[in-house]
Amino acid sequence: MAKNTFGNALKITIFGESHGAGVGVVIDGMTPGIDVDAEFINHQLELRRPSGRISTTRRESDPWQAVSGVFEGKTTGTSICLLIPNGDTRSRDYTPSVARPGHADFSAQCKYHGAQDYRGGGHFSGRITAGLVAAGGILIPALRKKGIEIGTHLARCAGVSDLPLDGAAMGDDHALREQLRLLGERAFPTLDSGAGERMVAAIEQAKMDADSVGGVLETAIVGLPAGLGEPWFDSLEGQLAHALFSIPGIKGVEFGAGFAMSEMRGSEANDPFRVIEDRIVTATNRNGGINGGITNGMPVTFRCAVKPTPSIAKEQQTVDFYKCEEQDFVIHGRHDPCIAHRARIVVDSVAAMVVADALLQRYGNDALA
Ligand SMILES: Cc1cc2nc3c(=O)[nH]c(=O)nc-3n(C[C@H](O)[C@H](O)[C@H](O)COP(=O)(O)O)c2cc1C
Repeated sequence: MAKNTFGNALKITIFGESHGAGVGVVIDGMTPGIDVDAEFINHQLELRRPSGRISTTRRESDPWQAVSGVFEGKTTGTSICLLIPNGDTRSRDYTPSVARPGHADFSAQCKYHGAQDYRGGGHFSGRITAGLVAAGGILIPALRKKGIEIGTHLARCAGVSDLPLDGAAMGDDHALREQLRLLGERAFPTLDSGAGERMVAAIEQAKMDADSVGGVLETAIVGLPAGLGEPWFDSLEGQLAHALFSIPGIKGVEFGAGFAMSEMRGSEANDPFRVIEDRIVTATNRNGGINGGITNGMPVTFRCAVKPTPSIAKEQQTVDFYKCEEQDFVIHGRHDPCIAHRARIVVDSVAAMVVADALLQRYGNDALA
């Protein structure tokens, strides 16, 4: 039973703890000869890294190293291991027996009986997502070369909404591709920078209130061939949801119009098929580009609900699970007042991992060549 590995043709294994020697990723089954652009990997890690007043003050410089599977700037086809040493840890902020409400301290205790590394959330820390982002740093450019673009924006945060992603009606995805490219360059992931500034102000206010906020991340994957994915248990929705729910703090995933579809009539929810220049497309995309678990050629779209950061500075009620006693509790560690903006690049990376796996399964190991 693999606990830290995802994928079939392309297997991604994560490892590490927040305050251990390092975190990282092993990628097995990757197409040989794919460019490994160190600058792009650094750019992606930079988008995940805490920075500014709306992030934890822990400094993560992420001096990653390709320990195997990369030769002369290209993948060799054998397993790739990317190692990212940890730094700036302050383990004294954490106690082994006091459960942070909303975090995994108590559930980890129940599973590992005290053997877990509790420092900084250990293996349950958002720090582990650095390995996923480093993997995305290889996969995202490889997919781009195949015409597949992935991007995520912070659609809503602390009561503020961003502009919507373009719907790519009738298969015209030019405007959507442009939006996704723009988001990939933005440190704060909104299309409307005014909305972004208002979100940042609301996150700062939550921090001043010794509290935290969550958000909704919206993603589009453009350029996938129709016919990708499997029916039933390995549906593309199932694979994406599986991987997305592995990201700490994600508590909801919906595809296309998602839950809103339950309020629609069939005539509204159905995407009418049309033919444009000999191509079969749909006029709307409420199904999020997937029918029966398999892509229909329209952009794959989904939204993730990111919860407010569990570690907050406000006094809370909890228990000491060794003493089995209730206690009042104030967290002194360094934490993000919001994780949603940092999680967007994790979502992009995880989406790239699922899509690359699906392509390699369908078209073989050289599919990304
Ligand atoms: C990029 C990223 C950064 C995170 N930073 C923090 C943090 O500073 N403090 C915290 O309490 N949780 C943080 N989290 C969330 C916790 O790791 C997560 O809530 C916890 O592991 C429990 O998992 P669950 O929320 O999925 O149930 C972060 C998550 C991500 C993706």
